[in-house]
Amino acid sequence: MTRFRLLAAVAAALLVASCGRRAPEPNVDRTTRKALAVQAKATLGILPEKMPGAETDTPELVALGKRLYFEKRLSVNGTQSCNDCHRLDGEHPSGADGERTSGGAMGRKGTRNSPSVKNAGYHVAQFWDGRARTLEEQAAGPLLNPVEMAMPDAAAVETALRAAPEYREPFAAAFPGEPEPISLPNTAHALAAFERTLRTHDRLDDFLNGDLDALSHREAAGLQLFLKTGCTTCHNSPTIGANQYQLLGLVKAWETKDEGRFAVTKNEEDRRKFKVPSLRNAVSTGPYFHDGSVDRLDDAVKKMAWHQLGKELTGDEIASIVAFLGALADRGVPVSPPAPSPKGAPR
Ligand code: HEC
Ligand code: HEC
Repeated sequence: MTRFRLLAAVAAALLVASCGRRAPEPNVDRTTRKALAVQAKATLGILPEKMPGAETDTPELVALGKRLYFEKRLSVNGTQSCNDCHRLDGEHPSGADGERTSGGAMGRKGTRNSPSVKNAGYHVAQFWDGRARTLEEQAAGPLLNPVEMAMPDAAAVETALRAAPEYREPFAAAFPGEPEPISLPNTAHALAAFERTLRTHDRLDDFLNGDLDALSHREAAGLQLFLKTGCTTCHNSPTIGANQYQLLGLVKAWETKDEGRFAVTKNEEDRRKFKVPSLRNAVSTGPYFHDGSVDRLDDAVKKMAWHQLGKELTGDEIASIVAFLGALADRGVPVSPPAPSPKGAPR
């Protein structure tokens, strides 16, 4: 056999082998799609255009929050802004950082994976254990957290901002009539107002809003499976998660040293319970889980089915669910950091 023939034979054998294993491509017809959209809408609901509380956020408040979000002087040594762990700019504006766990301003690693800031304003509470109720309450956390931005106290944050002349006007405009608008609570409020603008837009929105062709056949089959397998007992509501706490390892035990919500409530029944994460844009927020222990989305789906539902999914089923999660990819454009201060002005 010539070398070419040998190669061709090997290629043909591989092709046959791979075709033999693969289930036929799914085909979800129009009638089924209609029913699927009705069912998904009933289980998940439509993501509202505005987040709760956004009604009273003025453009001045949002603009200030955006500036603060990218402000490195809010960390102890001027090296880190919110955007370092929750990227909104560049090639991967996922609102997370792509790390297992995040490194802080002083180079120390935390123990938890950085969740996306996108859609966080829709969540029942903030953090994996829900220890902050609102975005406002959350925002002050990282500034003072020793393994994050590590500012020593509220006064240090206020001193840093008051020393920057270019912040006087934006704070005064965002908090009109206040004698000293530059404060930690106002900083947190402005950051929260900016975060309330960070809504994802994806093809599931389009599908639920009546565009029945917004999902490919494979994605529609994935949505069917997602509903049928029981993922929606925990990942439901328009954010597809983020509205409740659930035990990690409900059916089959899951190894973790993290006590989860127990650390907040001290109720024994909350041990190893975590906020069910939103699956909107999960395709770009890996690594996955509270400790970032799983790199790939297909592995995350497989583990979820096994540990949370006691089900063993086939490779084809996993591929369909992962394809559906792909339809939840945010098509939002990156947010650019505000222009630096004019040349010569203090930074
Ligand atoms: C050093 C990295 C780091 C920095 C800097 C940082 N964060 Fe985070 N952020 C995290 C991690 C890690 C978590 C999860 C911690 C946990 O759940 O215990 C988190 C959680 C959050 C959450 C909760 C999201 C959810 O789904 O529960 C929001 C909102 C958030 N951060 C916003 C901010 C803002 C605003 C700033 C700037 C003031 C900021 N972060 C700075 C790493 C960081
Ligand atoms: C009994 C509740 C429950 C069920 C059922 C469930 N999940 Fe989860 N899911 C969770 C919890 C809780 C977490 C977060 C665990 C942690 O803290 O690491 C999670 C995390 C995830 C993650 C990681 C997201 C991230 O940002 O880190 C994915 C992906 C996921 N689930 C997909 C699924 C799929 C697909 C199904 C159905 C096969 C499913 N889940 C079923 C509760 C559940």
